[in-house]
Amino acid sequence: MCGVIGYAGHRPAVPLIMDGLRSLEYRGYDSAGIAFLQNRKLDVVRAEGKLANLSAMLVTRDVSHATIGIGHTRWATHGVPAVRNAHPHKSNDGTIAVIHNGIIENYQELKAMLLERGYVFYSETDTEVLTNLIAEGRKCNDSLPDALRWAVSQAAGAYALVVLSEEEPDALYGARLSSPLIMGVGTGENFVASDVPAFLPHTRNVVFLEDGEYFRITAHSWEVRRVCDNERVAKTVQTVQWDVQSAQKGGFKHFMLKEIFEQPKVLTDCLAGRLISPDLPVRLPELDNRPIPGRIRIVACGTSYNAGAWGAPLLEAWAGIPVSVEIASEFRYRDPLLQPDEAVMVISQSGETADTLASLRLARERGAMVIGICNVVGSSIAREADAVIFTQAGPEISVASTKAMCSQMALLVLLALYYGQKKGTLDVGVWREACDALRALPTLLEGVLPEMRNRAAELAKSYAQAKSFFFLGRGPCFPLALEGALKLKELSYIHAEGYASGEMKHGPIALIDPDFPTLAIALDDALFPKVKSNIEEVQARRGRVLAIVNPGRELRADDVWTVPAAWGPLSAFFVLPALQLFSYETADYLGKDVDQPRNLAKSVTVE
Ligand code: F6R
Repeated sequence: MCGVIGYAGHRPAVPLIMDGLRSLEYRGYDSAGIAFLQNRKLDVVRAEGKLANLSAMLVTRDVSHATIGIGHTRWATHGVPAVRNAHPHKSNDGTIAVIHNGIIENYQELKAMLLERGYVFYSETDTEVLTNLIAEGRKCNDSLPDALRWAVSQAAGAYALVVLSEEEPDALYGARLSSPLIMGVGTGENFVASDVPAFLPHTRNVVFLEDGEYFRITAHSWEVRRVCDNERVAKTVQTVQWDVQSAQKGGFKHFMLKEIFEQPKVLTDCLAGRLISPDLPVRLPELDNRPIPGRIRIVACGTSYNAGAWGAPLLEAWAGIPVSVEIASEFRYRDPLLQPDEAVMVISQSGETADTLASLRLARERGAMVIGICNVVGSSIAREADAVIFTQAGPEISVASTKAMCSQMALLVLLALYYGQKKGTLDVGVWREACDALRALPTLLEGVLPEMRNRAAELAKSYAQAKSFFFLGRGPCFPLALEGALKLKELSYIHAEGYASGEMKHGPIALIDPDFPTLAIALDDALFPKVKSNIEEVQARRGRVLAIVNPGRELRADDVWTVPAAWGPLSAFFVLPALQLFSYETADYLGKDVDQPRNLAKSVTVE
């Protein structure tokens, strides 16, 4: 996820774009850049790190005559955070500058084609490929918009891009597919950005671009056309009433809620370029030149640990690789016995968690190959792992992790399929079903989230006064129970414990009374009868039960919460947001600080 903004108007463009970038910084903050035209000459300024670094560079430049420009704040997906990878990217001939939010899945193939035609690349990004693709398109097309249309028709993946060119010094062009792009319509000035807050101080009149559309804006005009046939699209100008802060949250009350609702997109992005079709194996080029591990040790903390615990049985079942899962703060202070063929897989959203990083270093010292599953490109874990696979979930602002876990789980599914295919242990039928089910997930999830939230809010009100809570699950639902309990305690400060439901009778059941409720996850799988019995044991002690079930499963409970079922283990992708929403709604109902719970930090860089 990155932030893009473009301006064409009558005022100095650079300060206005910088202001816009400030309100987009939540979308990415590892580098930033700006391109503008003065005297019809294209100029690009870029800096690594936060926007302040870019501002400092601009202070020394006379940019006061530029009234058109584009700006970008980056959240790296291809290539480490560095000036060379920061946007805007220039075409080889220096006349075109492009900013981009999204992922071009076939950029390696396109880059190879352009290299053959003599292009040179100065970054590792997919965006520089796109920029030169437009330049290449210009050679065989009559106009810049035709070149843009040609270039995007070659690109597979997601993009919201904006183009500034010396050829048309009064105009900005851009297009979108699966990444947001919104135009702001002003008087004598027009804007485009990946999110409304970027131009909200200047105009509330907006035009939402749809997939497959491209736009042209100048100071005094705007138009939208279809990429496929160049037909003009009649768009309506809408007026938004948001203030800047709520606009950053996309109209959601909290970042956490926004991030829960982003999960369908997170799944799409995580699968992009990796799960292509049932006829092609999973693509994880990061691992292609690495040996297939004989064993895997997953090491992580908190929510990332829960994701690892959920994914481990899949690696065992599909790839036939024995997997153990450990808490990083324990692993690092043991004297772990690592087998020569054992890989250590560290999972971390931030890539900076001190215990996970120390575990990575210990594993490497002992000669183990370390595979990192990480969200932040350029983080310590991403830099130090032997191979790193990015979850591509975009910046997670809420302290309580939600969408990161969804992406980690999706990546673990892909890893299990990848190794299973490489080793030949994966049944073809399982592969086809998994592939179809994964591809269907984002749309299904998107469809159910609003209703799921309503139900969560209703249940939260009824359970919010509890002082303690059990979360129970078996098999793949046990790590989900751990995650449900973690989310509830960290957000609402209600004491909550996640347990393997079969463990209850070995002690914890002594705590059950009418004031100690239990949330039990009883999905439509082989373990359902067992969980049902465990629920009855709780009910026999007069415990109140809220059961999360799949349609068609009969169960007696105080409250039954039916969530959709998906193929095989993928039902977890519906249970996870239900648990997140339950905790979110409980905490919000109790008036807690949802985005920044007490005593917690987003990145735990101390032991
Ligand atoms: C809980 C939460 C934490 C993190 C943990 C690991 O909501 O966010 O438990 O999951 O601190 O962080 P990363 O994944 O950044 O290593």
